[in-house]
Amino acid sequence: MNRDPGHFKWLAPYYERFIQPKAPELILAQLGLPQPEGALLDAGGGTGRVAQFLVGKTNQVVVADLTFEMLLEARWKDGVTAIHSHTEELPFPDEYFCCVIMVDALHHVVDQAATIRELWRVLKPGGRVIIEEPDIRRLRVKLLALAEKLTLMRSHFLSPRQILALFDDDRARKRIEVDGWTAWMILEKA
Ligand SMILES: C[S@@+](CC[C@H](N)C(=O)[O-])C[C@H]1O[C@@H](n2cnc3c(N)ncnc32)[C@H](O)[C@@H]1O
Repeated sequence: MNRDPGHFKWLAPYYERFIQPKAPELILAQLGLPQPEGALLDAGGGTGRVAQFLVGKTNQVVVADLTFEMLLEARWKDGVTAIHSHTEELPFPDEYFCCVIMVDALHHVVDQAATIRELWRVLKPGGRVIIEEPDIRRLRVKLLALAEKLTLMRSHFLSPRQILALFDDDRARKRIEVDGWTAWMILEKA
């Protein structure tokens, strides 16, 4: 499967100059639960911009991303394990991770349904998936989506409800949090 979006290959060395690292407050708050002694997956985690703040909160922090150049940046970060992988086909056993996060990446993947299935498959019962996305219901994000189209970025934004609908499992307890133009989809596996 060759689905490298290309843009991130060139952006990688400069990525964190434009998108500043910032501790992910809501994700950190959610991490108090439920099994912090396990492993955490940052799917589409890129340079480890977010994952670096989660080191030490769980036993292991893994960034999985398909862009080698982004992962090269992640490898400089202490405590972050960088794995080359598509989120549509994760190289991990079922129920391996206690927490799975995906920040600003779901709208970039080719197959969002397959990605969601994989995030859910690798999550342990009692664990949480947290997806952070720009909220496409906001005008500012609609303009961002247009800008990404004009720069030929392969992106497809879903609304928070559309994202939650992809988690098609009775064991999923779902909620949405919104702050400004960012939405978090939080799913707990019973
Ligand atoms: C906007 S960046 C976000 C990176 C990181 N989550 C952050 O917040 O800094 C999107 C990332 O998604 C990755 N990506 C896009 N499609 C992917 C896929 N199908 N599988 C894995 N990673 C993917 C890109 O390589 C890129 O690193």
